[in-house]
Amino acid sequence: MEIEEKVLGRLLPWWARHGGLAQFHRPTGAAGHLAGWIMGHRESNLARNRWAVELLDVQPADRVLELGCGPGVAVAALAARATRGSVVGVDHSPVVLRQARRRNRAAVRAGRVRLVCSPVEGLALDEEAFDAALAVNTVGMWPEPAARLRELGRLLRPGGRIALVSQPRMPGVTAVAAADELTGLLTEAGFGDFRAETLDLDPPVVCVLAKLGS
Ligand SMILES: C[S@@+](CC[C@H](N)C(=O)[O-])C[C@H]1O[C@@H](n2cnc3c(N)ncnc32)[C@H](O)[C@@H]1O
Repeated sequence: MEIEEKVLGRLLPWWARHGGLAQFHRPTGAAGHLAGWIMGHRESNLARNRWAVELLDVQPADRVLELGCGPGVAVAALAARATRGSVVGVDHSPVVLRQARRRNRAAVRAGRVRLVCSPVEGLALDEEAFDAALAVNTVGMWPEPAARLRELGRLLRPGGRIALVSQPRMPGVTAVAAADELTGLLTEAGFGDFRAETLDLDPPVVCVLAKLGS
């Protein structure tokens, strides 16, 4: 089931005015469960996540890391492509990770998807290097994102791919400005070979793609 944008267009601004925004940063309790459910069913969020996964161009044998995976929409799309590889999803909210586990039950059982409850700061993964990494609407929530992206670079193989997605909603912040900011952070973290794509939602979504320098 996908939720009608029209319904959410009314509900979400009201919820945001009553403290609901925090539930999209760190979902907790029943309200966090509702935030996760919305992320897992809202048409625009499904479109945004599937679009980003398509842009990342995941190959069947790839090992992919997703940071701030929420209820696991992109994890499912990544696992559908990395059929001989694997996907690790990380989030600091146990509430949404439970939803991600349910959404990806078969792939988790088959050992193709692993879901890790951890903040991105201080993330310790004892894994082979990843081929690709993804973060959708979460980088702006991380403490010291440049440092986090440098750490992420150490988890990727040389030449590894990354896709960072942002849908800026603050007044006056455009998709171009968001792309410039993400490109600056990635440059600081040692990435290059940039490309930016835009998805025509309201407001527009930007995806910055890059490769780790060898
Ligand atoms: C707006 S939601 C997006 C979720 C998912 N990427 C999606 O598009 O459906 C942001 C997610 O990032 C997670 N998050 C925010 N800050 C984090 C941090 N420092 N470490 C780990 N996860 C974080 C939140 O728990 C939340 O699930």
